Amino acid sequence: MTNARVFDPFAPDAGQHLGGAFDDQAILEGPFGYAVLGYELAGAVLRDRRFQNSALRLMEQFGITDGPVHDFRARSIIMVEGEPQLRLRTPLARFMSPVTVKNTRAVLRTIVEAIADDLDDSAPIEFHNTVARRIPSMVYCHLAGAPMSDAPKVQSISERTLSLLSRDPSLTPTILEAYDELFAYLDDLIGRKREEGLGEDMLSYLIALGDEGKLTELEVLTEATSMLEASSVNTAHQAALVVWTLLRDRNVWKRLSSDPTLIPAAVVEALRLYPRTGVVSKIATEDVEVGGVVIPRGADVHVAVWSANRDPERFENPELFDLDRERNQPLTFSTGPHNCLGQGLAKAEIEEVVGFLVERYPNATVVEDGTRVGQAGGRWLVDTLLVDLKP
Ligand code: HEM
Repeated sequence: MTNARVFDPFAPDAGQHLGGAFDDQAILEGPFGYAVLGYELAGAVLRDRRFQNSALRLMEQFGITDGPVHDFRARSIIMVEGEPQLRLRTPLARFMSPVTVKNTRAVLRTIVEAIADDLDDSAPIEFHNTVARRIPSMVYCHLAGAPMSDAPKVQSISERTLSLLSRDPSLTPTILEAYDELFAYLDDLIGRKREEGLGEDMLSYLIALGDEGKLTELEVLTEATSMLEASSVNTAHQAALVVWTLLRDRNVWKRLSSDPTLIPAAVVEALRLYPRTGVVSKIATEDVEVGGVVIPRGADVHVAVWSANRDPERFENPELFDLDRERNQPLTFSTGPHNCLGQGLAKAEIEEVVGFLVERYPNATVVEDGTRVGQAGGRWLVDTLLVDLKP
């Protein structure tokens, strides 16, 4: 358990921190920069445009200081602010609205069922690899109007590009190679779609905006790239984390089996307790005062979501899974102008998986021996999740 005054948000046990302020301090300085621990301050930082995403700096620290990958990151939606950000966010938001997500439910269900049909449920299954990892890339293919047979490639590329966030510089060649593959894949897909004729999907819409001169060719590629890297790997881990959390609480699982309308609330509560994105890192673009502390321009500011989500000032009995929790708004998808654009879709994907399990396998259990869930680089992750579907 982390209990020192200096809180390292990337420590292997940071996610087990009890949550909220240390000795009444909701923001702490350390060798890594600043860590924001309290819910209220975390929200204030995430909403403040004077804090910029640190992904570009991270790339530069990895030695990626120029070239197409660096250029892509610098002009991508997560790095730009104001009008340029809206210009990139608005076309994508059209495909992420509550109505669109609702209309996608049937497709999500078909995807989950298709994966389930491949399973041998007579013995425990490794849920993360056989189910959770496969869903989001299939959803991306649906969004982008790509053949479902592209899904394994999409999954692999997304996992390798986002390995930047594991903060391990030895991965630089892997990351560069993955982006090369990603750009080439999307170039090819855009070409194929032009040949076959544009459809109703997100990529067709982006291409059409390009043709109308509303987005540049480079922006079309940048948008599709951002969505591919963002949509897969976090959703896969988060889905497995939610299933792991819910299956291990038998009272909650029983309540879900008898009343599936409780599933959305259960998913949010699991997202609060075990957020895939345990840390959202930003950089101060000018001197900014936060909670009485002046953060100097250029400083790293790490919003410790896993601490804010368990802040006793905001959540009563924060360590408890409470299916009836009111005003439950964890920061797992961040907040403010850069809040996760795909959060509605991600939640729907996870709800569909849980709904399917509850309905088809109400007695499913986690096999603890063979399950490894942990943290690294400010993220909760599932190595393996062994589930006995018909114990
Ligand atoms: C459970 C899975 C997911 C988690 C935990 C997650 C979390 C996040 C977080 C923490 C941010 C950064 C916010 C910030 O910098 O303040 C973000 C941004 C973003 N996410 Fe997600 N995300 C998930 C799934 C998805 C999906 C499925 C999509 C698309 C289909 C998506 C698209 C995006 C985009 C485009 C951004 C950038 C938004 C902007 O900068 O304006 N995410 N996500």
